[in-house]
Amino acid sequence: MKIGLLLALLLITPLTFAQNLYVKLGEKQGIKTIVEEMLYRVGGDARIAHHFDGVDIMRVHKLISEQVCDLSGGPCDYSGEDMKTAHRNMGIDNADFNALVEHLIAAMEKQDIPVSAQNQLLALLAPMHSDIVED
Ligand code: HEM
Repeated sequence: MKIGLLLALLLITPLTFAQNLYVKLGEKQGIKTIVEEMLYRVGGDARIAHHFDGVDIMRVHKLISEQVCDLSGGPCDYSGEDMKTAHRNMGIDNADFNALVEHLIAAMEKQDIPVSAQNQLLALLAPMHSDIVED
């Protein structure tokens, strides 16, 4: 009985944690707004905007929103490419990566996302660094 309870707690705790992040980000609409603001800022940033020349930005908006929804425990299934394939041969360096993260943080700040939730999302994205950065 005690073991059963412990097992149930072990299974439920990470789920609750993830579910909370999705809610803290404002669910689907909040996430879409954050990603839209991030991409808007990226488009105005001469350091990195060139990477998006000729890119279907509506599609990227949809896919990043879906990915963040999925990662944060929301009711979405990311349907895009894996990060290595999606960013192959783009020559994205560390500074480019940091610039995009800077815009993501600014977008979350604008939506009044608590810093703890911001950090939870950044921690989920951090492991993607090695698949995205090439130089
Ligand atoms: C944590 C950081 C990042 C995440 C989570 C992310 C996520 C994504 C996702 C989900 C897609 C769509 C994948 C697909 O096409 O199926 C994508 C595409 C793209 N990403 Fe990123 N990305 C990140 C960093 C960056 C950086 C730093 C740059 C450049 C400065 C960048 C440039 C692009 C471009 C140009 C595309 C469009 C590719 C195309 O449609 O041809 N990404 N990204």
